[in-house]
Amino acid sequence: MQQLNTSIIGNRQIPKNVDEFFEGAKEFRNLMMMYNCAIKEVTTKFDVLNDDMAVRYKRNPIEVVKSRIKNPESIVKKLIRRNLPVTLNSVSEHLNDVAGVRVICSFVDDIYRVRDIFLKQDDVTLIEEKDYIKKPKENGYRSYHMIVEVPVFFADEKVPIRVEVQFRTIAMDFWASLEHQMKYKKEISNEQEVIKRLRECAEIIAQTDLEMQRINDMINEP
Ligand code: GTP
Ligand code: MG
Repeated sequence: MQQLNTSIIGNRQIPKNVDEFFEGAKEFRNLMMMYNCAIKEVTTKFDVLNDDMAVRYKRNPIEVVKSRIKNPESIVKKLIRRNLPVTLNSVSEHLNDVAGVRVICSFVDDIYRVRDIFLKQDDVTLIEEKDYIKKPKENGYRSYHMIVEVPVFFADEKVPIRVEVQFRTIAMDFWASLEHQMKYKKEISNEQEVIKRLRECAEIIAQTDLEMQRINDMINEP
């Protein structure tokens, strides 16, 4: 077995031999492939719901479904932040947001409607929910989050995999994207002012979402 020159680069530890390194990389890729398949399962479920509702009720409750896999750097950072071992088992045991799906709806009622229909499916298990629409965060953040587990069928096994699903209106998504940018900027000269104005915008957006819902109900009265 060929030895690598060093097992520490900076303050990072790397495996002691090349075989171990490639084996680890292969297993990591395999795990990410599994999360990616879980994303496809969940995304397809929402696409199917949207198509079905479009035919039945002549409208699409979902505007867009986005997804992402957490990158390796963020995975390791989160494990370290939570004082968890940096191993593949630790990822599947403790991290619920490696696979993420975001469902963007026009109206708040659609969020709860789609959520209810999705959770009724007998292969979807709800693990955790956080309703930041009913209980917004201090900064004004609104979205409905849940962690679900879905079975994914591979060549020789069925594996339950966790996926984080976030529901937002278009307006909430617009707000969250801007607020997210602020978090990643190291220096903002007027940070307190930005935080205050974002919080105000979040309130205006929430009022607008409510009013848009009411107008939609008036237009589409049964
Ligand atoms: P994380 O460790 O960040 O995953 O937090 P958590 O496990 O307590 O989960 P939570 O449901 O509170 O948040 C999960 C995800 O929601 C984040 O990774 C973001 O994508 C999104 N999110 C939560 N809070 C905010 C916020 O204040 N602003 C923005 N822009 N996004 C947020
Ligand atoms: Mg997260």
